Amino acid sequence: MTAPRTAPARPFRATLGRSVALFSAFRREQTDPDHFYGTLARDTVAQLRSYTPLDGAVVVDVGGGPGYFADELRAAGARCVCVDADSAELRLRDGEPPATAVLGSALDLPVRTGTVDVCFSSNVLEHVPDPPRMAAEMVRATRPGGTVYLSYTLWLSPWGGHETSPWHYLGGRYAAERFARRNGRRPKNDFGRTMFAVSAAEMIAWARARTDVDVVDVVPRYLPAWARPVVRVPLLREIVTWNLLLVLRKR
Ligand SMILES: C[S@@+](CC[C@H](N)C(=O)[O-])C[C@H]1O[C@@H](n2cnc3c(N)ncnc32)[C@H](O)[C@@H]1O
Repeated sequence: MTAPRTAPARPFRATLGRSVALFSAFRREQTDPDHFYGTLARDTVAQLRSYTPLDGAVVVDVGGGPGYFADELRAAGARCVCVDADSAELRLRDGEPPATAVLGSALDLPVRTGTVDVCFSSNVLEHVPDPPRMAAEMVRATRPGGTVYLSYTLWLSPWGGHETSPWHYLGGRYAAERFARRNGRRPKNDFGRTMFAVSAAEMIAWARARTDVDVVDVVPRYLPAWARPVVRVPLLREIVTWNLLLVLRKR
């Protein structure tokens, strides 16, 4: 009998307990980033596996930063390349970039057209100045039949302004200036420079207008399954969805 190559797949269930556990881990993000990002990466890879097999899959993690997701994807049997535009982000964890990381832009992915099984991105779309272009690049890189997993923080969510929240509700620039005045430095997530306003409405409409993808799912990523209908309610969804996940299949 041969030993299995990868860890056994953990079934993914979007329960209330899972949402509470994610939120508790998030509260330790600053003090214990390994715990938070490790927990989130395990949860995310279990969720991704509920849409597509990962064992042997070629995956690109767009804006993968220090590689927590790439590690979990590899543990699930995927061959994963991280593409990130910031070498400092790639080195955040150990001072070394993750194995098989590539410095490159999500807006112009250094990936041949139609070559990857899964194009994955978590919490990057709100950091690029042209979100539809990044999403289009992810679709371009994906092979026919492959999967795009695209998840991002909604601007009107309570965490939309990141560390400048909740003042972003009074305007992104105002929130950034207020943060700079109080802390004597610009926020890392600086509105108009490293953080932009992306809505659910914009990206759902973008996905539905594409003729080269099927929209497999539109999900409030961190919320329990019973909260899923919220993504169908205009305006309310922008606030309570928090983080929107679009799952697309390339035709
Ligand atoms: C909030 S972090 C998310 C990191 C990781 N994906 C996660 O979910 O924990 C945003 C990442 O996007 C990267 N990023 C921002 N703009 C980018 C671009 N144009 N192309 C590629 N990566 C970019 C940043 O360097 C950073 O690593």
